[in-house]
Amino acid sequence: MPVIGVLTAGGDCPGLNAVIRGVVARADERDSEVLGIRNGWEGLMNGLTVSLDRDSVRGILTRGGTILGSSRTNPVKVDGGIEKIAANMEREGVDGLIAIGGEDTLGVAKSLHDAGVNVIGVPKTIDNDLGATDYTFGFDTAVNIAMEAIDRLHTTAESHHRVLIVEVMGRHAGWIAFHSGLAGGANVILIPEQDFDLDRVCGYIQKRFEDQYSPIIVVAEGAKPIGGFPDEDDSATDAFGHARLGGVAHWLEGQIEEKTGEEARATVLGHVQRGGTPTAFDRVLATRFGLHAIEAANEGNWGKMTALRSTEIDLVDLADAVAVLKTVPPELYEEAEVFFG
Ligand code: F6P
Repeated sequence: MPVIGVLTAGGDCPGLNAVIRGVVARADERDSEVLGIRNGWEGLMNGLTVSLDRDSVRGILTRGGTILGSSRTNPVKVDGGIEKIAANMEREGVDGLIAIGGEDTLGVAKSLHDAGVNVIGVPKTIDNDLGATDYTFGFDTAVNIAMEAIDRLHTTAESHHRVLIVEVMGRHAGWIAFHSGLAGGANVILIPEQDFDLDRVCGYIQKRFEDQYSPIIVVAEGAKPIGGFPDEDDSATDAFGHARLGGVAHWLEGQIEEKTGEEARATVLGHVQRGGTPTAFDRVLATRFGLHAIEAANEGNWGKMTALRSTEIDLVDLADAVAVLKTVPPELYEEAEVFFG
């Protein structure tokens, strides 16, 4: 009976448990065994495993987070990390791995595949920034959480005649800001793909007040003003070299008050966007990814990633999966600009 390991790595997101449940359900039907690996790559390097059967995944479809735990450990940066992983897989009798993660996790999966380890990737991230798939699961949930927050902020902004600034996640890609801002009727959307002109933003704010409404600005955490921030410090980075972001909304708060004289308040949504139950779209997408991933593993179709193409789930090469970061195209951003101000 083939044994397939499954792990979740990188930032968690709603839908991870749905993938695990899909993998286990189909494995059970096809007489393969699933070994859960705790805490992402760190757990695989340290041999932290748990056997998964139908009973152990009952009731997890609706649960956010990951029953397996996650970490941002990068085995490629650990001395002998890849060798440790290969040795632990052999010792545990694991024939192949399903690695559920974003750009970083799938990059590690590709390195493992290049080193001869059997691995299949499943794309997750609230950022929706993987080029090889139309959507990653987790994104739809995050957008809906942000949209609901924007809806709520509209009414309090109007009551107090304030500028409300909502900071959402997105380091390099502004998908969450763009979708939630458009869906929530934001008056300005600021994304990392396009450095913003602060004076122009202030112009939109003044225009909005002239029309007797209060402005809502949605800003992605990675957005920055033309010329950058005066005192930028990106010294704190994780194992994949990412700076810890967060703060643009508070920076804007001060700048807007100074330049327009209007009261401005920031709301940073942070990890709220990654928590809680997945939307129906994410539950279905994650489940289908899980079913197709274990199918690919049973067929020995290694070195691939499940991808949504239109309504179909395809398999693409891991190399293609990590080749291009999908960012918001300028022409799409321009479509939303008609609502600015
Ligand atoms: O990659 C997913 C993500 O939520 C990003 O949008 C965000 O910048 C990052 O993770 C935050 O990571 P952490 O939870 O490690 O601070």
